[in-house]
Amino acid sequence: MEYSPRAVSDQENTEVDPSRGSFGTRFGFLMAAAGSAVGLGNIWKFPYITGEYGGGAFVLVYLACIVIVGLPLMYAELIIGRRGGSDVFGALRNLTAKSGSPAGAAVSSVAGIMAVLSGLFILSFYSVVAGWAVHFLGVSVGAIPAAPGGAGPTFTALFESFEWSATWHTVFMIITVVVVSGGINGGIEKICSRLMPGLIGILLLMLVYVGVTGGLGDSLEFLFAPNFHKLSMEAVVEALGHAFFTLSLGMGAMVTYGSYLKSDRGIVRDGVTIALIDTGVALLAGTVIFAVVFAGGKEAGAGPGLVFVTLPDLFDSMPGGTVIAIAFFVLLIFAALSSAISLLEVVVSFLVDRFGVSRKAAAAGLGVAIWGLGLLSANSSLTFGIPGALSGFLGEGDKAMLDILDNLTTRVMLPLGGVLIAVTAGWLITKEDREAGFEHLERGPGYAKAWTFLIRFVAPVLVLFVLLVKAEFISLG
Ligand code: TRP
Repeated sequence: MEYSPRAVSDQENTEVDPSRGSFGTRFGFLMAAAGSAVGLGNIWKFPYITGEYGGGAFVLVYLACIVIVGLPLMYAELIIGRRGGSDVFGALRNLTAKSGSPAGAAVSSVAGIMAVLSGLFILSFYSVVAGWAVHFLGVSVGAIPAAPGGAGPTFTALFESFEWSATWHTVFMIITVVVVSGGINGGIEKICSRLMPGLIGILLLMLVYVGVTGGLGDSLEFLFAPNFHKLSMEAVVEALGHAFFTLSLGMGAMVTYGSYLKSDRGIVRDGVTIALIDTGVALLAGTVIFAVVFAGGKEAGAGPGLVFVTLPDLFDSMPGGTVIAIAFFVLLIFAALSSAISLLEVVVSFLVDRFGVSRKAAAAGLGVAIWGLGLLSANSSLTFGIPGALSGFLGEGDKAMLDILDNLTTRVMLPLGGVLIAVTAGWLITKEDREAGFEHLERGPGYAKAWTFLIRFVAPVLVLFVLLVKAEFISLG
């Protein structure tokens, strides 16, 4: 089914403002939304935290978190965007105003402002990390000399060189701005409809490759044979936090994309599809990466350096390794780009819808601002002393800007945003808006009931728990 402008449901539902732009097809919307979800979180972070927390049991808990917390919040964001018909701030305000709840205005304003700030902050450092992938692509094709001693020293040199990090960050930001300037249909949808199938294609080819070169059996066993005595409470908290991050929840990315949909029909199914693609890509990436790691006789728990250090060295010693390295870093860049696009779109739509700024001016102006902030993250020798009282949120001692912004957003702002969005969707909007996406389903009323319970009680409590543990208000002993 396509979200065509003439669909009957458009007349039934809140009208769509045509001047805002919209997705042309259902496929395009799914690629953009799945592109937002599939990012560095899937290909860089998921494999390394799974490695650190011991594999199978962690994966199982992570899958449970996607279903219990991720999916309900995904639907909440999509329906708020679709029914609110505006940027994240405006959509939240519109729907809470409709319900007339006095708490609604306050909660939705705070959630909206924080969402926009999260977008700014995350993109500034995300672009720096994505830039590292561009550098490694350059090294793989032989355009940039590797440091003597392999990927470890190459990565360290890159990390310590402000010039290199800033250069790739600049390149990556320019590309992101150009795509978002092109609009929803002509820019974001068009690009993501190519990036996502390309990304999945590369992953499948890599899967075939490791099927030949070996390690596949060990990898599958590591990921899918649960070993529960390795599971710690800390791992459970990490799984829940990551389920949330990997689906791009808590900062209105799905609210924003949902606002460019022309119909409520299919939103529930779309949410499930996005989560399935995201989870599928994470598991596939994990399978490929661990196959390479085990075939090379390395350990799974290498930490954040897994894809930038362990992997490139292993590729080097494999047959056809250059091609595989190139494929892998293209994959990483595709994943990061479609996520960066949605991060920028959250903030651009805020300026366009709230202040009537033109899309091109908003994208360019924000691009410069975010680029400037990102320069602080590109400079790893620039550190800031963290006052003791804030060390739970921001880390201890002297911290680089990249770590500060990463911690601030993923430990505090996204979970807090998620709680506020869950509370808004569960309690502060009308029943009609809340259940709009379930109306057309055969077993709609039953699903709507189950969802309402999860979004009112389960999601806010669990996410609040993660927030308190991550910010070190609750200690797991
Ligand atoms: N989901 C992205 C990833 O897995 C990261 C991310 C978190 C994100 N929040 C977001 C991307 C909001 C876009 C919008 O890497």
